[in-house]
Amino acid sequence: MSETTLFLGTVVHCIGDPWDTGAAAIQVIDNGYLAVSNGLVTAVGDASTLQTSELCDCKQIDYRGNYIVPGFIDGHLHYPQTEMMASFGSQLLEWLEKYTFPAEAKFSDQAYAQNAANFFVKELLRNGTTSALVYATVHEQSVDAIFNAASEVNMRLASGKVMMDRHCPENLRDTAASGYESSQRLIERWHGKNRLTYAVTPRFAPTSTDEQLKLAGQLFNDNEGVYLQSHVAENKAEIAWVAELFPWSRSYLDVYDHFGMLGERAVYGHCIYLDDTDLQRLSSSNSVAAFCPTSNLFLGSGLFDLMGARERGINTVLATDVGGGTSFSMLRTADEAYKVTQLAGNTVTPLQLFYEMTMGGAKALTIDHQVGNFSQGKEADFVVLDPKATAVLEQRIDLANTIEEVLFALIVLGDDRCTRATHLMGEVVYTR
Ligand code: GUN
Ligand code: ZN
Repeated sequence: MSETTLFLGTVVHCIGDPWDTGAAAIQVIDNGYLAVSNGLVTAVGDASTLQTSELCDCKQIDYRGNYIVPGFIDGHLHYPQTEMMASFGSQLLEWLEKYTFPAEAKFSDQAYAQNAANFFVKELLRNGTTSALVYATVHEQSVDAIFNAASEVNMRLASGKVMMDRHCPENLRDTAASGYESSQRLIERWHGKNRLTYAVTPRFAPTSTDEQLKLAGQLFNDNEGVYLQSHVAENKAEIAWVAELFPWSRSYLDVYDHFGMLGERAVYGHCIYLDDTDLQRLSSSNSVAAFCPTSNLFLGSGLFDLMGARERGINTVLATDVGGGTSFSMLRTADEAYKVTQLAGNTVTPLQLFYEMTMGGAKALTIDHQVGNFSQGKEADFVVLDPKATAVLEQRIDLANTIEEVLFALIVLGDDRCTRATHLMGEVVYTR
């Protein structure tokens, strides 16, 4: 029989959906344990009952005084843009030309890409992010680099080669045919290996010809279990451009719909300026909206309507969108999501935010049978959060009476300093 390890601490996870059932959706075990065997969760429970349990002789890792929560899920970010975070003064289209394309061009160099990918994966883990849907660049080997880096630590990660055959610098341009073939090779090389999933990645409608979008739709529909990731309705100038380029389309989203690019596991970044018909279509097709609050604020893009999306039954996932986004931390991201929602006159609760960062994100990405909470048999990806990480946080949490208050303090005041440790499949992969 394989060895079981017990991780002791305050265990907090979603056993339901707080958007539907409020506090009943969250299980909190104060003096708790998380039992892991062979990388999988075998149980959670009350540590005071251990003396009389068959688990009492198991190896124990003592995280008491800390919160043990499911690893965070980041539904949209760009690993090659790590180095260009905090690029000043532009909105989307100028920002792409001025900062993004030059940064991404460097990834034609395999060694450069591998270094950047290794750095990026470390940064995710340091922030408690254990699953992510990640853009690479147009270069095939940039995808090898990120999958290699994720494999090293056995991380659950999805990525894909950017498809981009027009309206970009020559050195970042593929063709409809070469983009298709390269994506197909990458699917064969990586999809379903270890914990890796391929994501068909047409950058956004303006940088792909009709032919390329058609082939992206085909790759998505012909390969079981792959994602499709792209951007939609982020910025007003971008939307006007799409209307010019695709005069026949009813809307920006309609372009993607036309090419068979909506459906389960189709994940669209931003979704800020969608009308009722579009929202209805996102919902009916089971597509996913990635909410990127730090990026939407940084690039002056606009305010995503989280409540409107939830009310229409749209799958949502919270995302950093590094490097338009300004932090790797899903705590910082949830904080900004709260503020954006406040601006719209709505209030998202701490439990709903926690759900979006964990189980809700897992559901949206259809990895909820593997991760997202501590149900028996799930992969033991978790983060240990330190409520004493900063003096201000410690003082605030000392005064907290409920788990809502604790989670809210972590979200509003916390960041990567709160990560005491990150575990993948039970194994420690980051420790402070
Ligand atoms: N739209 C097309 N490409 C990008 C990108 O790299 N970042 C963001 N935020 N929006 C995009
Ligand atoms: Zn993006």
